[in-house]
Amino acid sequence: MDKISIIGGNPLKGSLKISGAKNAALPLLAAGLLTKDPVILTNLPELSDITTFLDLMAHMGCDCIREPGQVTLRTPDVLDLEAPYELVRKMRASVLVLGPVLSRFKEVRLSLPGGCAIGTRPVDLHLKGLEKMGAEIILSEGYVTAKAPKGLKGCDYTFPIVSVTGTENLLMAACLAHGTTRLLNAAQEPEVTDLAHCLVGMGAKISGIGTSTLVIEGQAELGGTTHSILPDRIETGTYAIAAAITGGSITLENTSLKLLPLVTQTLCQVGLGLEQKGDNVEVNSPAHGLKPQDIITEPFPGFPTDLQAQFMALMTTINGASSITETIFENRFMHVPELARMGADIAVKGNTALVRGVSSLKGAPVMATDLRASVSLVLAGLAAEGETLVSRVYHLDRGYEKIEEKLSACGAHIKRIRKDPVIDEPSINTTSSLKIASSGHA
Ligand code: EPZ
Repeated sequence: MDKISIIGGNPLKGSLKISGAKNAALPLLAAGLLTKDPVILTNLPELSDITTFLDLMAHMGCDCIREPGQVTLRTPDVLDLEAPYELVRKMRASVLVLGPVLSRFKEVRLSLPGGCAIGTRPVDLHLKGLEKMGAEIILSEGYVTAKAPKGLKGCDYTFPIVSVTGTENLLMAACLAHGTTRLLNAAQEPEVTDLAHCLVGMGAKISGIGTSTLVIEGQAELGGTTHSILPDRIETGTYAIAAAITGGSITLENTSLKLLPLVTQTLCQVGLGLEQKGDNVEVNSPAHGLKPQDIITEPFPGFPTDLQAQFMALMTTINGASSITETIFENRFMHVPELARMGADIAVKGNTALVRGVSSLKGAPVMATDLRASVSLVLAGLAAEGETLVSRVYHLDRGYEKIEEKLSACGAHIKRIRKDPVIDEPSINTTSSLKIASSGHA
């Protein structure tokens, strides 16, 4: 398994390009299952999660032509309606095939995605919503089979808790349902909005986009479209924090602070300079020190849970105390013991971590446990004295495109140490064209 070595202490200077958003790309790929016409997605990030999802879609019979930064999807009228365990287990977001395949093909069989390091992450809300739309749901032997022989029907569905992929699954399902669907307490993340805009480009009728109430008038079919994936707001926040933690100043190309309003406000209260200049964001560290801030993670427009670990890494280096409360996932503090190995002072009580800044972190061998925890260790390594060696970096490759290249271009001492390949680690294969003849039953 590869490792990443970082020698800390260099203030970042320079510029890097923000990639397309992983958490927009995944539902947008699934949207390609809703039509037989070509769906072209551009600004596609080169990530192992994208490869994994395309492998699943190709396995089901979707024609996926992948080129650098772009993919063209064509889903024929005959599809293998089963998403098998060996593919689904690699990535929970595979659950996003449920809504589109059921809605278009009237049946789908999906291996239930297991939990993951950060929580049990059930999909009960997805299933309850589809059931309310008239689907018969059968759970057996670790698989969910959903059937709607007469098609799904529009309904009112209120999410008891905000669910991003739950909203995305039902939004896609409703586009081909008979009648009107209203999704209440829907997720408002920018990635949901980006999906809705793409679906409208395919001929869907959606109103309330960007709000917590989405109204969808079902259509008989959808057509193709070309859609550019919005910039990754989590990558944007991650690299802004990289500048802050090293006392550097960098330019983030092709992104917008509008995608992360509360993060922007919080980092400005910490003392970081953040300014939108055209399509770029200028990040400037102040000459004087930064100030600690408290955060509570919440659904958008609240502080995103996907930036909690990165923000904590920053707080460990700032004089003073800050509290970090995680309200979305039940086990999202696994970066804490690894940061502590680097000298961080963090006390966890329930879902709140109390962080007391230390004068300097010390480089150490640390282990990545999940995608965002792993990048928080890289950020800490950028600030630490000496070398930090991060292992299990396949977690990183799921969500951060070319992270070493981007940070090196800004003066970081970071390099990947390639180890023997581990079987079944998803690899990023940017040039393969995934063409598999469609097979299986309608
Ligand atoms: C999406 O996951 C993101 N993934 C996550 O990003 C992100 O952390 C999360 O939303 C919250 O913003 C993608 O978009 C691919 P949820 P999702 O459904 O949709 C509970 C990353 O690092 N819940 O919004 O799976 C759930 O357990 C990843 O990029 C149910 O109980 O999250 C959690 O406590 C990590 N039943 C809460 O709701 C359900 O049926 C929010 O989960 C669904 C969710």
